[in-house]
Amino acid sequence: MSKIGVFDSGYGGLTILKELKLALPQFDFVYLGDNARAPYGDRSFDVVHEYTWQCVKWLFEKDCDLVILACNTASAKALRAIQQTDLPAYNLNASKPKRVLGVIRPTTEIVGNITKTNKIGIVGTLGTVKSESYVIEIEKFFPQVKVYQEACPIWVHLIENELLGLDGTDFFVKYHLDRLFAQDSEIDTLILACTHYPLLLDSIEKVVPSQVKVMAQGEIIALSLANYLERHPDFTGNLSQNSTVQFYTSEVYKNFNALATVFYGSTVVSKHADIA
Ligand code: DGL
Repeated sequence: MSKIGVFDSGYGGLTILKELKLALPQFDFVYLGDNARAPYGDRSFDVVHEYTWQCVKWLFEKDCDLVILACNTASAKALRAIQQTDLPAYNLNASKPKRVLGVIRPTTEIVGNITKTNKIGIVGTLGTVKSESYVIEIEKFFPQVKVYQEACPIWVHLIENELLGLDGTDFFVKYHLDRLFAQDSEIDTLILACTHYPLLLDSIEKVVPSQVKVMAQGEIIALSLANYLERHPDFTGNLSQNSTVQFYTSEVYKNFNALATVFYGSTVVSKHADIA
């Protein structure tokens, strides 16, 4: 029997795991945050790919036959290479085929149904924004929608360094949102295209115009995974159902637990993962 792996560069994927656990409480999850090497956001394609694939293989070895890249940067920069090249080669020698899914596709599939002005704002890491993944994917599903992007490279640093709720943090949140909305005041939907950003929601909501719908990805990914599992009953039948969650970090686990508990919304007790 196998488990569901959830990967992020650090804490952000916990905002996704929290919703997965609510929607699919019966399954067993293994979370891995590569906090020792986070943030990934401004790293090159090659490095994000290398780190992500190492972490995915680590989760495979922990009996996860399905891994969710609960990280936009990894989904934007590594998912394609993993799905097209690494995974087919890995599966040649695997006892059971492994699968890897990302967070961008499920988000872009529905976002056009939410905007009324057909103007969507994306905030994400430098890597996610530069990859243009959201622009390209939204264009496929909703060609009438115009996408505006703003990279917020400092936000993940503020979160990973536990600087939430400070005036300085509010300043940098406002700085980037002002730049986004200056591009077009009719943007009515804001996608938090980085799984860390829900932690800045209080600061974000202070600045965003009241008519704008702010969308975090947790519920979207949970719905999409529930749907995927329903459509793949043979695969789902092989998933163990003991309602457990294990947490791993590539950092010192004691440091991880405190902030992870904030992200996850209930107590996190983690172990150290030796990845590389
Ligand atoms: N949580 C991540 C994302 O969704 C990555 C943040 C980072 O490591 O820069 O993009």
